[in-house]
Amino acid sequence: EDDGVQRILEAHQWLAKLYHHFLVNTTEGKEALQYLTERGYSRETIDTFNLGYAPDKPDVVATFLEKKGYHPQEMVKAGLLSETDSGGHLDRFRGRIIFPLRNHLGKTVAFAGRTLGEGQPKYLNSPETSVFHKGKLLYNFDLARGYIRKQNRIVLFEGYADVIAAYQADIGPSIATMGTSLTPGQAELMKRYSEKVIICYDGDKPGIEASVKTAKELQNAGIHVFIARVPNQKDPDEFIKTEGGDRFKREVIDTSEPFVGYLMRYYKNQFNLQVEGDRFEYLETVLREVAKLERGVEREYYLQELSKEFSLSMESLKEEMEKWKPEAN
Ligand code: GTP
Ligand code: MN
Ligand code: MN
Ligand code: MN
Ligand code: MN
Repeated sequence: EDDGVQRILEAHQWLAKLYHHFLVNTTEGKEALQYLTERGYSRETIDTFNLGYAPDKPDVVATFLEKKGYHPQEMVKAGLLSETDSGGHLDRFRGRIIFPLRNHLGKTVAFAGRTLGEGQPKYLNSPETSVFHKGKLLYNFDLARGYIRKQNRIVLFEGYADVIAAYQADIGPSIATMGTSLTPGQAELMKRYSEKVIICYDGDKPGIEASVKTAKELQNAGIHVFIARVPNQKDPDEFIKTEGGDRFKREVIDTSEPFVGYLMRYYKNQFNLQVEGDRFEYLETVLREVAKLERGVEREYYLQELSKEFSLSMESLKEEMEKWKPEAN
């Protein structure tokens, strides 16, 4: 079993190298390299993230790994080959840009492959394997870790592309989930390294909704959550590309605001505060989040805001909030 794990890791290491070689050294990879260059990734960045290209052929991986002594069945188990209906095998990643997914120790445990054009799915990930559990991995955590410790903050993005653009723009503590919602395990892992997380998801509606969901999950773990807002429905990587990294840092990251304040404004658009039922629902929704705040002064601050806005006494708000307080531990 342990031996199997070692072999899978080794296969990923070999392949990451091969894919990178196809991208930077071959004619087949030229279009992909040009695509990445147009997206604004420098050669240094391409090397740092060990980006690659999987040629549009059915059996590059199988041929390569077979020579290294791997059996097709092993490669299927490693998520590198797919089984066809006729009982044959096929490279999982074909004609795609390859993003190696590394664990916290820097070992490649899976791949994500992006189409060059408009094909579907846009991103194809390795399946869950004995070495890849997408609910546990945080993209770029291995490189970000030192910066996270030093700066005592994490910047959390939605996509791999955003992390790479941000890292290139000198925002070291940049990480992302695997395109899935944040798990409690990932929240715990983050908490171990930093008290503060800045969520910087896409500026579109799904991104805003996901950031609220993620923020609640992080607050449950006792993390101080901030929200950075990318204007004009843009992705962070688009903003960085058009406006530059300095502006991104100054106007997006450095102006991030505490989650509860953000939430109050966000919910004002969701609820009709003229309607009594909605007012109470709004109050409850906000008080639940205020109750999770660790610092008394912070809780006090937001209760004051609510008190002013709804002409309610601090006592009644406090009483209501107590209901939602997580049990002290
Ligand atoms: P670019 O178009 O390359 O800039 O990607 P993005 O980072 O903007 O991706 P997007 O906002 O569309 O999605 C965010 C994340 O969701 C990606 O990094 C992936 O992890 C994941 N994701 C996006 N599309 C797909 C898909 O088609 N399949 C799967 N499994 N995951 C996806
Ligand atoms: Mn290289
Ligand atoms: Mn999106
Ligand atoms: Mn994008
Ligand atoms: Mn995006």
